[in-house]
Amino acid sequence: MNTDQFLVKSSLEFIDKASFTWQTPSNIALVKYWGKSNPQIPKNTSISFTLNNCHTITTVDFIKKEKSNEVAFNLFFEGKQKDEFKPKIAEFFKRVQEYCPYIFEYELTINSENSFPHSSGIASSASGLSAIAMCLMSLEKEINPDLSEESLNKKASFLARLGSGSASRSIEGPLVVWGNHPEIEGSSDLFGVQFPYKVHPFFENYQDVILLVDKGEKQVSSTVGHNLMHNHPYAESRFIQANENLGKMSKILQEGNAKDFINLVESEALTLHGMMLTSTPYFILMKPNTLEIINKIWEYRQENQSNICFTLDAGANVHVLFPENEKGNVIKFIDKELSKFCQKKHYICDTVGFGAKKL
Ligand code: DP6
Repeated sequence: MNTDQFLVKSSLEFIDKASFTWQTPSNIALVKYWGKSNPQIPKNTSISFTLNNCHTITTVDFIKKEKSNEVAFNLFFEGKQKDEFKPKIAEFFKRVQEYCPYIFEYELTINSENSFPHSSGIASSASGLSAIAMCLMSLEKEINPDLSEESLNKKASFLARLGSGSASRSIEGPLVVWGNHPEIEGSSDLFGVQFPYKVHPFFENYQDVILLVDKGEKQVSSTVGHNLMHNHPYAESRFIQANENLGKMSKILQEGNAKDFINLVESEALTLHGMMLTSTPYFILMKPNTLEIINKIWEYRQENQSNICFTLDAGANVHVLFPENEKGNVIKFIDKELSKFCQKKHYICDTVGFGAKKL
């Protein structure tokens, strides 16, 4: 794998200070990433819808200082100093320092906030780390005028991946593939790429309502979950299946087959949780209300000839996916039948989005 392309080869023209603000979205996988090897290389290809309303806004201030051996940074989350988040970010800087040697020349102050409540059970690592990656790339662009716009996004996704795998899929939109796949031109294990084929209009402006079933901290982090795939008895067949599903999903997205989409998306969600149920040690991230909601969605779909379906990420919350023309009816259904299964009846309405925005 050619990681050399991400090394800084030009001589840099340092500036005294700079400040950049980026808004980067969360994403929801249709074919799931679950299992990786070092350094953050996925065991199978995944594809996600980029979201729009669930995002992180991050400002990084860079002040030039004497060069040091460690990255100097301060971290604020929603205006408060957050030292407990520092180890994850410090680890991220360690992984990217080879590709961003300029970070040793600056003191960084990171100010971050999410559009969704912190304790919503919505993973913020994808949006959080892609935002920092974009800020680093904005600095790199200032001090390395040779950097092209195209290589900027590619390297941002490459850096984001080193922080959190799914963050590689949060730079662009509306559909991003991460992981090398023979049927997806340009795909790579190193960074996410926009789905390269024409998508059927059925998926335009697709809707995602996130039902907040459990806002608490997860008992098992994604990182621990990924690691449990190493000795998992079904891992190898799961990776083969996921890559086959990616090929199927590519065809579905181009042809607009709603039934096949629903079957594949729900099967992927349940398979992800099936992997958790069959890990050693086993664990369950779904809650009773997750299953209540799934059953109600199936009932509603049957009774209304609807194209509504669900997916799950590594938690108890349910993502309800449906085409834009069903919005009115589905929101009524959610209000009446599903919101009672959410903590404080709380849910978030989102749509597919187009990726990182510089503010
Ligand atoms: C279930 O990207 O959070 O959401 O690479 O360890 O940071 P790390 O894991 P992370 O895993 C996400 C897993 C998932 C499925 C997906 O988004 O594809």
